[in-house]
Amino acid sequence: MLDVEFAGLKLNNPTVLASGILGTTGAALLRVARNGAGAVVAKSCGIVPREGHPNPTVIEIEQGILNAVGLSNPGVEEFAKEIKIALQGGVPVIASVYGFRVEDYAAAARILADAGVAAIELNLSCPNVEKVGALFGADAELALEVVREVKRAVSLPVFAKLTANVGDIVEIAKACEEGGADGVTAINTLKAMAIDIRAKTPLLGNKVGGLSGPCIKPIALRCVYEIAQEVDIPVMGCGGVTTGKDAVEYLMAGAQAVQIGTGVLTRGLSVFRKVALEIQEFLEERGYSCVDDIVGLALK
Ligand SMILES: Cc1cc2nc3c(=O)[nH]c(=O)nc-3n(C[C@H](O)[C@H](O)[C@H](O)COP(=O)(O)O)c2cc1C
Repeated sequence: MLDVEFAGLKLNNPTVLASGILGTTGAALLRVARNGAGAVVAKSCGIVPREGHPNPTVIEIEQGILNAVGLSNPGVEEFAKEIKIALQGGVPVIASVYGFRVEDYAAAARILADAGVAAIELNLSCPNVEKVGALFGADAELALEVVREVKRAVSLPVFAKLTANVGDIVEIAKACEEGGADGVTAINTLKAMAIDIRAKTPLLGNKVGGLSGPCIKPIALRCVYEIAQEVDIPVMGCGGVTTGKDAVEYLMAGAQAVQIGTGVLTRGLSVFRKVALEIQEFLEERGYSCVDDIVGLALK
């Protein structure tokens, strides 16, 4: 009843681990898979290792968390060695890659594709060094170019993970589709900050960071709803999913699967099983026979 197909990937339920949350080692990804996730997305990796931002990098705020981890990662070569372990979980393992040049994305994707992942998610929330100040995900042309180059480099499904820190996210989604993306993930964290009023300083070591959790759900849901009406490729909803009700909202907005990030930190690893069960209860109570029955219902 809960099985879904997402751009050719078979998921036994529509819950997916979001990138950057527990996804830094094969063992952690395996644990998430064994705890009921339908698929797992690894932490974003680049062609060279990266230390990340100074502490504090994660702080709790009302209805969410703020993070400025700064893409700390061991680099694709090191991470590629972990994939074999993650694959023992028996669910699709999706690698996430980032880069500061188009060719960095393609090179990283190639190495992880060779290591056996099922798909590549492109973290487009990264600045481009050649077009100073522009995020790949905030510039339709750059986004299209990254997707096209990665599609040329690998023969796997490629998903573009979009940022909502833009004027028109639908325009970027369409550009990614035109570039050959097989799916879209919406959304990444929203640019935000918090201030320690006693110390009179920003709380995060990096001063600004990304907001996630229940407080961003209405924004992410709106993005999914708008994108799903304008593209023909499937959408993964991401932002504040903690309960089955949240997931059902995303499915009705047109998503075919949902990613869970902050929800893992607040509801524990069992969040995948719980959300899947709550979706199932909803379907059974209303007489639906499968997840697909409710996808896009709110679009009509
Ligand atoms: C601590 C932390 C680290 C993250 N690292 C990444 C990352 O490496 N790559 C990425 O694409 N998104 C990253 N994200 C964003 C999440 O994947 C997700 O898009 C966002 O948190 C919204 O979903 P949520 O509200 O369920 O957490 C990170 C989020 C958090 C909280």
